[in-house]
Amino acid sequence: MDELCVVGKSIPRPDAWDKVMGKTRYVDDITLPGMAYAAIYYSSLPHAEIKELNIAKALRVPGVLAILRASDIPGKNFIPMIKEDWTFFAKEKVVYPGEPIALIVAESKDAIMDAWEKISVVYEELPAIFDPEESLKPGAPQINPIGNLLSLHKIRTGDLELGFMESDVIIEGVYETDYQEHAYLETQGALAVPGAEGGMTIYGSMQCPFYVLKGVCMILGLPQHKVRIVQTPTGGAFGGKEDMPSLFAGLAALAAWSIKRPVKLVLDRRADIIMTSKRHPSRSYYRLGAKKDGTLMACEARVYLDPGAYATLTPSVLWRCCIHSCGPYRIPHVKVDAFAGATNKVPCGAYRGFGSPQVIFAMERQMDKLAREIAMDPLKLRAMNALRQGDSTVTGQTLPWSVGLEECIQKAAEASRWEEKRSRYPAEDGYKRRGIGCSFLHYGVGLGAAGSRIDVAEAYVQIKPDGGAVFAVGTTDMGQGMQGVLTQIVAEGLGGIAPQQIQMLPVDTMQVGDSGPTVASRATYTSGNAILDACEKIMDEMKKGAALLLKCEPSQVRAGGGKFFQESAPEIFYTFAQVAAECSARHFGLTHTGYFKSPDTYWDSETGQGKAYVAYSFGVQIAEAEVDMQTGEARVLDIWAAHDLGKVVNPKMAQGQIEGGVVQGVGYSLMEFIALDGKGRIQNPSFSNYIIPTSLDAPLVHSEIVESVYPEGPFGVKGFGETPLMGVAACVANAVSDAIGRDVDKIPMLPERLLEKMKG
Ligand code: MOS
Repeated sequence: MDELCVVGKSIPRPDAWDKVMGKTRYVDDITLPGMAYAAIYYSSLPHAEIKELNIAKALRVPGVLAILRASDIPGKNFIPMIKEDWTFFAKEKVVYPGEPIALIVAESKDAIMDAWEKISVVYEELPAIFDPEESLKPGAPQINPIGNLLSLHKIRTGDLELGFMESDVIIEGVYETDYQEHAYLETQGALAVPGAEGGMTIYGSMQCPFYVLKGVCMILGLPQHKVRIVQTPTGGAFGGKEDMPSLFAGLAALAAWSIKRPVKLVLDRRADIIMTSKRHPSRSYYRLGAKKDGTLMACEARVYLDPGAYATLTPSVLWRCCIHSCGPYRIPHVKVDAFAGATNKVPCGAYRGFGSPQVIFAMERQMDKLAREIAMDPLKLRAMNALRQGDSTVTGQTLPWSVGLEECIQKAAEASRWEEKRSRYPAEDGYKRRGIGCSFLHYGVGLGAAGSRIDVAEAYVQIKPDGGAVFAVGTTDMGQGMQGVLTQIVAEGLGGIAPQQIQMLPVDTMQVGDSGPTVASRATYTSGNAILDACEKIMDEMKKGAALLLKCEPSQVRAGGGKFFQESAPEIFYTFAQVAAECSARHFGLTHTGYFKSPDTYWDSETGQGKAYVAYSFGVQIAEAEVDMQTGEARVLDIWAAHDLGKVVNPKMAQGQIEGGVVQGVGYSLMEFIALDGKGRIQNPSFSNYIIPTSLDAPLVHSEIVESVYPEGPFGVKGFGETPLMGVAACVANAVSDAIGRDVDKIPMLPERLLEKMKG
């Protein structure tokens, strides 16, 4: 590959300035003439029949324009996701507290509040279930029309019994993880604008415009060419705006269709925490067998995720959970069963890591216990079993390339001075005890075999006669920095032009073809490839134009540094702008669309074997933690995070991803806790009592980037946006366990829980 001009450089992201200056207009900043407001009236009970829904009084509140229910839907009361169970409105019964029942549409937010008070529902309560294991027991009340078992995945390889027979030690453990709320800065919101000839346009905060498109078409019964979805600048998502915006955009669209005026539906924080998805709580039962020398022989796991009442994204989350359940290790004999049993709680969904942090926590605790049992250094134990190039995963996938785990181990161990500290810790300092712990992780990039049908991307690139470039893609920037990274890829694909010459258009479903969801750390990899395809077509044309100027054959033209020249005489050149002008004058088409389809993957759901993902990203994280033995409060002091991401496009932004992910992981480990009452109602729907880390809780994050090129990615890129969070709970729990000399197998590690552990 030629020398790269733009990719690999820490260029400031194009969206940064307007964001820090407060100039960026999010959906709630938009007001249109004639615009009305909407809010969702939701269930207060976990499981109940709706006997009566009384809206007459509320309709008489001045300013109220409409109150819409399931019976007002012109299309179908069904949100298209994976299974056919999720509805826009509850109709005959509610299955979780927070389930939408009606939509209040009014001239003002005050009118909405008055109307809310005047709606009444007569319920007949039904027995509810709050535990996913209970949900699957015979005789449990049925919550979901498709049955309580919302999803099931497994892995079978080798001969488990033989594996345990040949093991010298067997480690057993039960692990529990709790909810995590996305806590994005911007709450969910959509603005629906009815168009001419019965069409509808949605502006909204979202990750997946093409999911929203399907949802709006479904509720209104419209064909896709009548509905346009435009993503507004999105203030964070972390997975929380993967499935949920289909609901909110769909309801806003219903309201706009009903009153024939623009309608804005933006959630306040309380409604957002009560009604939207979170990370699945989990309980896992693990058994791990190994030889005395540390060689892993067998792993058996039974994993329960708590999906809440509807399937939404759970089958995909559970699949990823299952595949990542045995860590980045070689293990010959494996049996994993992963279940999702419906509960009468808010549906859980995507959250950075997508079902993997739960099992990484469990497996990495197991590894620490095994290390202790055979008196081996826990990092060395992991390293000796770690996947290397040419190895096979527990799902039978051989890894031909791009396995940077070994380099991650070296970098993290060196930077943290692991060996020296591990020999010195646990260390005592007054009432405080200090420990160190590590975790290894891998992450299948993209949708993999479960979603290969939609693992595609399109890109549109247009060159202006003055040499500027405009591009559009179907994946979204939700704050993670995609706009900047893809701008760099466009710049590079066009022969190293300046990023300042390039403008990304807002994501608009009428402009680009379905590019799948923006999830699974896939945007840079898939849209990047689609961009390069478009750029290649443009550069072919531009080389023809440059050849006319240089008086040579197009095949002799080289591009680099924003110039076109011949290899034999690089000092004679034409700039990108000069060639663009020439092409324009000669009517050479410089607008092209690029496509990308992920390489094939496949999966046998009976055996849990196959090529699950196109490639894996890897990471090693090491945490140093301190526990106050009097208060039970744990603090993470330092985290060393080494991540293999294929090829880094923008080192500073990658470092930002690592720092953000680690801090989010610290919250998940130590403090983030959703309190439910006896009816599954969230008791702390605000940031005054759902505690997330502040800058004072943030550890020092030492990021280390490893580049183990993935040949099918643009310039070698793999995905990595999710990985920095994924191993944090595991390494922090290992560090805390090391510090206090007790096994901590449940997160969050709240002070009261740690105090309880340390008693006696
Ligand atoms: Mo992401 S958690 O795959 O939306």
